[in-house]
Amino acid sequence: MINIQKAAIIGCGFVGTSIAFSLVQKGIFSELVLIDANEKKAEGEAMDLSHGLPFTKPMEIKAGGYEDIADCAMIIITAGANQKPGETRLDLVHKNVEIYKSIIPKIVEKNQEATLLIVSNPVDIMTYVALKLSGYPSHKVIGSGTVLDTARLKYLLSRHLDVDSRSIHAFIIGEHGDSELAVWSAANVSGIPLNHFCELRGYFDHMESMDRIYQSVRDSAYEIIEKKGATYYGVAMAVCRIAESVIRNEHSIMPISVYLDGLYGLHDICLSIPTVVGQEGAEKVLDIPLDLMEMGKLVYSAEELKKIIGELKL
Ligand code: LAC
Repeated sequence: MINIQKAAIIGCGFVGTSIAFSLVQKGIFSELVLIDANEKKAEGEAMDLSHGLPFTKPMEIKAGGYEDIADCAMIIITAGANQKPGETRLDLVHKNVEIYKSIIPKIVEKNQEATLLIVSNPVDIMTYVALKLSGYPSHKVIGSGTVLDTARLKYLLSRHLDVDSRSIHAFIIGEHGDSELAVWSAANVSGIPLNHFCELRGYFDHMESMDRIYQSVRDSAYEIIEKKGATYYGVAMAVCRIAESVIRNEHSIMPISVYLDGLYGLHDICLSIPTVVGQEGAEKVLDIPLDLMEMGKLVYSAEELKKIIGELKL
């Protein structure tokens, strides 16, 4: 019997524990199982987080194993290598696929009903791998995708335009990586087309601003990794937001990594596309309008991922 209030995090590195910390702050779950190859680490993280509970709300946080995941409503997978300075996310794929070949069967043996929320990079490919290895319904295997990139875009635009980032509506879609693209054609500030709002703020060189902001978004992780060695807080907050929409059945629209089989003419691939996210996971993948240039960039992004997927032996 699935417990909607229970989740597991597999992988207790910086990202996994930051997700745990974020989930504890939000109180989305009442039970959290931390699983890591290093059991002592998982135990220490569970203890450390538990000692903060008097500041939030009652939860059971424990280190465990696959025997503890049978009733989890959500299983968040962060296990795997992360980018080192100079590495792309795609460089991680072969190492992380081997780790998933070990992890996914252990999950499936215990639980076939959870929503699998994939975070390991390259997340679009790892979402595809998790889907193929698990045999789960495609709507139940989702990835953090470009939810973080979209947040970075909103943040940078909010600084540029001196408005609340929550009033900015714009998406980064495609690969969570170097071939991602901004859907500028649909971007708006509370319904005001972005370029019009830019002009209200005295900006008129739209191409320069868009190129500069897009490149900052695309290259954020490289810059952060260069400075502090890894990224984890931003992605943790993005994952927490996705979990919240699933568990609370919010039907929020987020560019999670989802399986496509025909949308935009793309087949048998996972890519980050705006999707209605609720208790069933990816409830409706939205074919948001794209202009010709954006469509071309999305197809290119898909082709970049297909090249890697084609090499995998799943
Ligand atoms: C980043 C990692 C999560 O973009 O890929 O920060």
